Amino acid sequence: MDSKPAPFVPPAPTPRSGALSTLELVRIIHRNPLELWGEPSYNEPWVQMTWMKQDILVANDPGLIRHVLVDNAKNYRMARVRQNILRPILRDGLLTAEGDVWKRSRKAMAPVFTPRNNAGFAKAMLARAEAFAERYEAVDGSVDMAHDMTLLTYDILAETLFSGQIAGEPGAFARQVERLFNTMGRVDPFDVLDAPQWLPRLTRIRGRRSLSFFRNIVSETARLREKAIAADPEAAPNDFLTLLLKAEGPDGLSRQEVEDNIITFIGAGHETTARALGWTLYLLAEAPWEREKVEAEIDAVLPGLKDPADWLEAMPVTRAAFEEALRLYPPAPSINRQAVADDRYESLNIPAKSTVLVMPWTLHRHRKLWENPNAFVPSRFLPENRDNIDRYQYLPFGAGPRICIGASFAMQEAAIALGVLMSRFRFDTFRRRKPWPVQKLTTQPEGGLPMKVSRR
Ligand code: HEM
Repeated sequence: MDSKPAPFVPPAPTPRSGALSTLELVRIIHRNPLELWGEPSYNEPWVQMTWMKQDILVANDPGLIRHVLVDNAKNYRMARVRQNILRPILRDGLLTAEGDVWKRSRKAMAPVFTPRNNAGFAKAMLARAEAFAERYEAVDGSVDMAHDMTLLTYDILAETLFSGQIAGEPGAFARQVERLFNTMGRVDPFDVLDAPQWLPRLTRIRGRRSLSFFRNIVSETARLREKAIAADPEAAPNDFLTLLLKAEGPDGLSRQEVEDNIITFIGAGHETTARALGWTLYLLAEAPWEREKVEAEIDAVLPGLKDPADWLEAMPVTRAAFEEALRLYPPAPSINRQAVADDRYESLNIPAKSTVLVMPWTLHRHRKLWENPNAFVPSRFLPENRDNIDRYQYLPFGAGPRICIGASFAMQEAAIALGVLMSRFRFDTFRRRKPWPVQKLTTQPEGGLPMKVSRR
């Protein structure tokens, strides 16, 4: 008899059937946009709808996605709803900039994320992950893994890109990030209804205090580093922050753009990876037969490896588990664009100004693209199976010119964090509590991820 356990199917909203009233729709978008999508969005190559006179296209077909994000990317700008949420926070940072500002900024920052430079971050990642793991030696019982992973990835980001020199206290920082996501990170009903911009958004008013907290930290961080560079240019760290400050000038970035990028990279550089790590540990805890394989690989491989930059390559099973977590709970669940001019893909007309939603959330669970789409099956990402996955059906980091600049950084960080944590500890869930995925900018577990930590 085959005793192989059935794959674990983690919690996710059931696709909707039937129409929603405007009020219900606004309420769901505000509460949790992941609960919005109906059967067609998980079954069809694309779905077109009109709402409040706005053409909306849900794009699931890999060819169509490639067309929008890569081949005809110049016809697609960032969608208005996305910009309405993110721009008040990130202004002209790389994630929200467009046109020439984006081009200049991406060019200025690319050198930090080259493969060679990325490998250079590995030792600092390892040191911070090991220091973090110490706290679990003293833990006996429950921790909130969502919160803890935020602390870990924040610490790694601060150490690698900012040489540990971000002003302020990390605990206060994490609390304000959470507050910001709960307020400004939600879609405001007025934005959904396309109300005029002069109407005040309640969500944003509530987030203003957190925002001014971040702006102060950023100015202080820049000021302290400028002082250090002025005092002794040779002794100041040669990191992302110094590169940004050096890129400031008439042909480079403005002062405001420098500050906008500090806040963008602090935000985009740790929250997404934290969510991905938390979900990975949760999924492995619920599927202990998969966890065993990851633990076995880590135990066999790590002792023989000196350089942590080699871990990701050397651990295909661990990597596959992480990639499967990115599939089921993509930290960036929706990549939104708006057509500039009329466009066409095969038989599909895409009118100018339509919103195009490329949603890793629905795409990664699409019935026609994935076998057993809702189940946790890491083996689909093993090297021997990888060819079965089209480049444009799996988009945790997006694609095309706006692809995540930190993708390799995040993958390396994940391998090192999982390697360190899982070699020393075992993480279990509490059966009574199932996390519920909620979209608040990122895909977050509602109420955190309570887990039990024990020494292996
Ligand atoms: C698992 C972790 C991560 C995930 C899932 C993720 C996901 C994404 C996605 C989907 C985009 C494209 C958005 C779009 O096209 O609209 C993006 C862009 C971006 N990401 Fe990441 N990211 C991660 C980690 C990081 C890290 C570690 C950094 C920095 C150190 C970073 C910085 C950025 C920036 C600055 C952009 C904007 C790039 C541009 O528009 O040119 N991300 N990310």
